[in-house]
Amino acid sequence: MPSEPRAAGSLLVDNIGELVTNEAGEAGPLGIRRRAALLIEEGEVVWVGPAADAPAADRRIDADGAAVLPGFVDSHAHLVFAGDRAAEFAARMAGQPYTGGGIRTTVGTTRSATDGQLRATVRRLHDEASRQGTTTIEIKSGYGLTVADEARSLRIAAEVTEETTFLGAHVVPTEYADRPDEYVGLVCGPMLAAAAPYARWIDVFCERGAFDADHARAILTCGQASGLGVRVHANQLGPGPGVRLGVELGAASVDHCTHLDDADVDALAATDGGTVATLLPGAEFSTRSPYPDARRLLDAGVTVALATDCNPGSSYTSSMPFCVALAVREMRMTSAEAVWAATAGGARALRRTDVGVLRPGARADLIILDAPSHLHLAYRPGVPLIRRVLRNGVPR
Ligand code: NIG
Ligand code: FE
Repeated sequence: MPSEPRAAGSLLVDNIGELVTNEAGEAGPLGIRRRAALLIEEGEVVWVGPAADAPAADRRIDADGAAVLPGFVDSHAHLVFAGDRAAEFAARMAGQPYTGGGIRTTVGTTRSATDGQLRATVRRLHDEASRQGTTTIEIKSGYGLTVADEARSLRIAAEVTEETTFLGAHVVPTEYADRPDEYVGLVCGPMLAAAAPYARWIDVFCERGAFDADHARAILTCGQASGLGVRVHANQLGPGPGVRLGVELGAASVDHCTHLDDADVDALAATDGGTVATLLPGAEFSTRSPYPDARRLLDAGVTVALATDCNPGSSYTSSMPFCVALAVREMRMTSAEAVWAATAGGARALRRTDVGVLRPGARADLIILDAPSHLHLAYRPGVPLIRRVLRNGVPR
């Protein structure tokens, strides 16, 4: 990713009614400070404290008593694709089940698209997410499924984010339908070699109808040997081996976690936050499926993140505020848990310590809400509450 703009000089965000820092040791799980201010220099937070003690600065933003949060960290999105599947969504709302079979439809349209068309979609969705407060986003390949199409998907994703994930093992493409072993060989060999220069992570859709545990393990292990970190699409459509495989391989995150048994939950808890359970309630909303049991995970001590899963099939939303609202209303997370999961939780899922928090040394990625408290994100669903977004200290 090209180096990002950073504002010169100092910038004071002043008159903050409620500052969510996510700093352990501060009041409550969100590390909330009231009547606070925050000083930014060279794209970094350099001071946080009471508004009454705010230092002088070259420029000032008056938050006017509003809530300020770390920017959302969306740790799971599929933005490189062409076409949409609105008709498939309509059929689902009329009673058809979601099977993941539509992935191959998007593979066809994506392969036929020009680089310019893919780039335009990535930028449009990236902008859409930014306007809704996302300041860090992970983007996966997975709709190319040829050596050239996976490499170009990641090259285009890398133009807008450093968090890029190689998902050549999304499904077995039609031309390999009766030769899945050969496809796994392609993914581990030439496809990985072409993709790795543009990727930080490797991911596999480990699910009945996609990749079984042996294939998934082979692919993820090859990715690790090429220096990529591991993430897994696991236990989305039914029970299966994905979560425990992710834990076995030291995955940063296992994503979906909709169908878990006690052993899955115990395995995740035993990682002590090393493997995050990333919940994607937009997918359950858009596929009309039962939501994951967030309370069971949280009560067992598992670290939980929330992300959008933005993709044209199972979850065509780029809105982290929407996911927070779903998590609170439908998954019985408290607002504090949901906001933490959408910020610090996403950062953990990406093994980042510079985002998802607002403390000296962190990146100055933050949101000023059009509301006095983080509680309003779930309390006022569907309302555009993101008044202002700063990324690297630069108002977008
Ligand atoms: O995370 N489950 C696999 N992949 C995506 C869905 C992709 C699609 O339906 O196009 C997901 O939900
Ligand atoms: Fe996904």
